[in-house]
Amino acid sequence: MAKDTIFRVSYILAVVFLSINSIACSSQDDDRKVYIVYMGSLPTETSEIYSPTSHHLSLLQDVVGDERSASVSIVRSYKRSFNGFAAKLTKQEAEKLAKKDGVLSVFPSQTYHVQTTKSWDYIGLPNTVKRNPTVEGNTIIGVLDSGVYPNSESFSDKGFGPPPSKWKGSCNGGTNFACNNKLIGARYYVSTEDTAVDASGHGTHTASTAAGNAVEGASFFGLANGTARGAVPSSRIAIYRVCDSQDICAGAGILAAFDDAIADGVDIITLSLGGRRPTSFDVDSIAIGSFHAMSNGILVTQSAGNSGPNLQTVASVAPWVLTVAANTIDRKFISKLELNDRTVLTGIAVNSFPSSPSNSALVFGDQVAKSCNEGSARLCFARCLDMQKVSGKILICQNGDRSVATAAAVFNASGVILMQDFPDTAFVFPLPAVALDNTAFEKLMSYYNSTRNPQGRILKGETVPDSAAPVTASFSSRGPNAVTPDIMKPDVSAPGVDILAAYPPDVPPTKEGGDDRRVKFNVISGTSMSCPHVAGAAAYVKTFHPDWSPSAIKSALMTTASKIRDITTEGDPSGFEFSYGSGQINPIKAADPGLVYEITKDDYVNLLCSLGINIRRIDGNSTCPKGAKNITEAELNYPSLIFKAPVSKPFKLVLSRTVTNVGPPNSTYKAKAVSASNVNITVVPEILSFKSIHEKKSFTVEISGSGLKSGTLLSEEVLWSDGIHSVRSPIIVLPN
Ligand SMILES: *[C@@H]1O[C@H](CO)[C@@H](O)[C@H](O)[C@H]1NC(C)=O
Ligand SMILES: *[C@@H]1O[C@H](CO)[C@@H](O)[C@H](O)[C@H]1NC(C)=O
Ligand SMILES: *[C@@H]1O[C@H](CO)[C@@H](O)[C@H](O)[C@H]1NC(C)=O
Ligand SMILES: *[C@@H]1O[C@H](CO)[C@@H](O)[C@H](O)[C@H]1NC(C)=O
Ligand SMILES: *[C@@H]1O[C@H](CO)[C@@H](O)[C@H](O)[C@H]1NC(C)=O
Ligand SMILES: *[C@@H]1O[C@H](CO)[C@@H](O)[C@H](O)[C@H]1NC(C)=O
Ligand SMILES: *[C@@H]1O[C@H](CO)[C@@H](O)[C@H](O)[C@H]1NC(C)=O
Repeated sequence: MAKDTIFRVSYILAVVFLSINSIACSSQDDDRKVYIVYMGSLPTETSEIYSPTSHHLSLLQDVVGDERSASVSIVRSYKRSFNGFAAKLTKQEAEKLAKKDGVLSVFPSQTYHVQTTKSWDYIGLPNTVKRNPTVEGNTIIGVLDSGVYPNSESFSDKGFGPPPSKWKGSCNGGTNFACNNKLIGARYYVSTEDTAVDASGHGTHTASTAAGNAVEGASFFGLANGTARGAVPSSRIAIYRVCDSQDICAGAGILAAFDDAIADGVDIITLSLGGRRPTSFDVDSIAIGSFHAMSNGILVTQSAGNSGPNLQTVASVAPWVLTVAANTIDRKFISKLELNDRTVLTGIAVNSFPSSPSNSALVFGDQVAKSCNEGSARLCFARCLDMQKVSGKILICQNGDRSVATAAAVFNASGVILMQDFPDTAFVFPLPAVALDNTAFEKLMSYYNSTRNPQGRILKGETVPDSAAPVTASFSSRGPNAVTPDIMKPDVSAPGVDILAAYPPDVPPTKEGGDDRRVKFNVISGTSMSCPHVAGAAAYVKTFHPDWSPSAIKSALMTTASKIRDITTEGDPSGFEFSYGSGQINPIKAADPGLVYEITKDDYVNLLCSLGINIRRIDGNSTCPKGAKNITEAELNYPSLIFKAPVSKPFKLVLSRTVTNVGPPNSTYKAKAVSASNVNITVVPEILSFKSIHEKKSFTVEISGSGLKSGTLLSEEVLWSDGIHSVRSPIIVLPN
């Protein structure tokens, strides 16, 4: 108890301290903000010795006046994989720098936010799967996140040999961070803490999901007991801490992490973080950093975001990134409420607290209201409730907002009942809790209204099978893509609901206070959790095909994925590819996809040039190809297709694609394209015959029809099959 109080007091002090500190800083630095000064590629070997650091300082000195101010204002230096720096500048200084020779762009460093293990069995990657152990041991996954807790069993190096010889990174994890032969590298890019040790829990969870060791007997207080593991338990992990303890991640630091990770020699980069909304590629550190990664043969996976189910919320939109949505798995965490009349209402929550031995009074928010009207009090807005009055009672809120649970726990409530519109995600609470769907909540209310002394108790939670899975999580951000709308996003989906994975034992499982429990594994949900599943699967594919390009691995994961469901809106399921892209990944099938849709760096450059984007702001060394045919977004050789058709008029639209044979040399594929709606789909040619590996063949997909209604999307697909491999590409027809 005393510990709990100390924790809360220090938490409050920390918050107060941070805000005082930020006031102090802002008055000192007046209007200065962090800008990224992007200078593109590093010069290739020349006779003169080029020092990026002195070049950066001299440029900066020219605009800020003297050497001392220059070295004080510099925040990050990019000098290993590309050139540039980040510095605290006024708007005027930024404008002056933008005009300097060698400077390609200057843009503000944005703030990004962070957005587990039965899930591997669920998507068909059992622990006994065929592996390529030597290559797996040479595969390195770079995790850009909030750091890790290095002492977790998930990162122990028992049985690991020294890092692969290609590794050029180092262990600069700072305070209390020791690397080992599993965690082979660590660096940090946060301004507030001098360590790569995870103070949030997020990074430990994501890194162990991608590549953690198999740890038996992992559970959340006995719930979801089993073996927790990553996709590629023998691979190595390199940690790049870009997010602080509050899960805030600075763009300037993220770009520095890319600069290092590429030069360090990682094979795959995973980022479970993103902006709140999509932005142009040339001011997005993640889009720029991942472009360089792609140029160096490194696939980048990124979470789609947690802003669903509204449309056009996906914030990861660059075509060279693999964007990941989240779906449920076949296990669900339930929690039961037993009323005094013996009725049992079942809801969801990750509720590890023992069943309450006796009943407690149930109080609806309006019974403990302080100042607000009845409606707001029933929603349990914190400012509306007199928390002193909830002690020993179970508080009922007509709202899914979990923040009230923290206050209720602090004030010794015996439980909380919430109403959750989309009851697909169970959360961990600091006290016994149940989240009811609308129907069960109605039942509770009619009981509540029927008696003068409503009482009940919350029973210990359980896990049960969920036959509805896989379904897209309601929170998962949806397409269409706001920046390049004719490129389908998200790309794929993976488990991201109620995932059990490693967690730092010094961070409480719920972070807003009132929780003095400590765990080695925690249950968390988000596209942050699905993203490392796909990074792990990509690494798995790469262990069989070390020479494959990022686009080949991405295509393999997309064309072997299977369609899932979305139940956030009723009725016509068309257009739900904007929820899950090509669908839920299948790592084993992805290791043998038959055909791949490849996109080279030159293809991306040509697309960006065709779109009128200044390529040098993204890749300083590239120039627009002279005389090349301009292409549209829809024409990029993407493994999914978007057609824009006119409303209420006959239409006939054609797109072409090229596939590369990566299966048996002599293969013959037949196209299957049967329309699910009232349009005609014709693939020409219908048969593709290959004689050798890496052989390429092109085909066209023609869609014709008429009478498309405004606002109606059509979902179609084109599938190539040789009897063994199925190579599927989803198609969305959008009314124009
Ligand atoms: C988890 O399961 C294992 C094997 O089934 C069992 O031995 C162990 O006691 C269980 N642990 C918990 C915390 O339930
Ligand atoms: C909650 O209960 C504990 C132990 O009974 C007590 O020490 C603490 O003061 C209570 N907290 C509040 C806010 O009433
Ligand atoms: C319970 O009573 C409240 C008014 O006190 C009313 O708004 C609500 O509709 C009732 N609910 C049920 C299910 O009877
Ligand atoms: C291609 O598009 C760019 C940007 O929209 C334009 O400047 C250029 O003239 C176009 N080139 C051709 C060959 O049409
Ligand atoms: C820049 O591009 C040229 C031509 O493609 C290439 O020869 C050179 O090595 C590149 N430089 C860097 C630093 O990538
Ligand atoms: C491919 O098929 C052709 C004709 O069917 C045959 O002559 C050739 O040997 C086959 N090649 C391989 C590698 O199987
Ligand atoms: C589809 O093709 C068939 C045969 O060519 C034709 O009769 C039909 O009208 C077409 N349907 C649409 C919707 O264009």
